[in-house]
Amino acid sequence: MTKKTIFITGSTGKVAEATYKLLCKEGDFRFVLHTSSDEDLHVFNSEDKVFRFDIKDKIILKEILNTIKPDIIINPAALTNVDLCEDDRKLAWDMNVLVVENLEKYCKLNECKLITFSTDYIFDGKKGPYLEEDIPSPISYYGKTKLAAENIIKASNSNCAIIRTNVVYGNSSYAKDDFIKWLIKKFTSNEKMNIITGQYCNPTFVDDVAYSVYKIIDKDLKGVYNIAGKDYVNRYEIALKVAKVYGFDPSLISPIESSKLHQKAKRPENGGLITLKAETEFGFNFTSLENGLNSMKLLSKQIVM
Ligand SMILES: NC(=O)c1ccc[n+]([C@@H]2O[C@H](COP(=O)([O-])OP(=O)(O)OC[C@H]3O[C@@H](n4cnc5c(N)ncnc54)[C@H](OP(=O)(O)O)[C@@H]3O)[C@@H](O)[C@H]2O)c1
Repeated sequence: MTKKTIFITGSTGKVAEATYKLLCKEGDFRFVLHTSSDEDLHVFNSEDKVFRFDIKDKIILKEILNTIKPDIIINPAALTNVDLCEDDRKLAWDMNVLVVENLEKYCKLNECKLITFSTDYIFDGKKGPYLEEDIPSPISYYGKTKLAAENIIKASNSNCAIIRTNVVYGNSSYAKDDFIKWLIKKFTSNEKMNIITGQYCNPTFVDDVAYSVYKIIDKDLKGVYNIAGKDYVNRYEIALKVAKVYGFDPSLISPIESSKLHQKAKRPENGGLITLKAETEFGFNFTSLENGLNSMKLLSKQIVM
């Protein structure tokens, strides 16, 4: 049997890297990678073909897809900086909506499967955590773009799956710092921090997102899947847990109300996702924050050694 070809967009991203590593272990696929960066992709296998181009360029994208003829496209590329999405709405729309639309069109015409990613930021955070079928009402431009992309896919009836996730953490070779990496850096340099007691979420270990991608491919699933960690916590509780697992001084963090943190984009105060559907269909228990942080700590020690 010929190997299936998987095309991964935005390969230097955190979810892209973890998904690639897991699929290399669990499956037998041929990979073609996209990146818009000039990073040396040393963590990927040297035999994988790499295309460096602007994914927003739909003509080049179409040409490349027609050349490589993927069976599956995994699309973690996105403008994930929520505040930047407020400032540069065109870039946010082009990356988060039009790229998905172009990939979906290709998939529909070519019997290709598309797996793309969304967020609990499609909700307003008045009554989280949310089920797959809850009614979205985004309060940020990022959330609006992600919902628009979801709606394109839902209207298309093609072979597409949407993984909704939130506050993803874990080791990565190239990705920008996430909230947990930011906390670790601040604790390590003994800096005091004011952390809000709001923005409830369920922090998601990146390997769980990767495993969910594998399950969706393996079972050829379509539709929306909430993928999120076991614990429903606020940002201050996350910081306390990081201090506990890493042995940092918890007195460096002080709790403040969410209204005291002036972020450009509004964030859901009670966000987060209910994962019963994925747990039932995948036969899988999502990782607790403590276990995820312990794995992250262990893995970063192994990388240093
Ligand atoms: N991380 C989270 O907490 C979280 C939560 C909810 C949903 N999600 C969704 O999950 C998916 C993966 O997230 P992630 O955390 O892995 O994201 P990430 O680490 O920020 O990676 C996204 C990748 O997209 C590409 N990219 C970003 N901006 C770009 C631009 N302006 N032009 C072209 N390419 C650009 C980059 O890859 P290259 O440089 O290799 O092209 C980047 O590494 C995204 O759809 C995100 O919205 C993430």
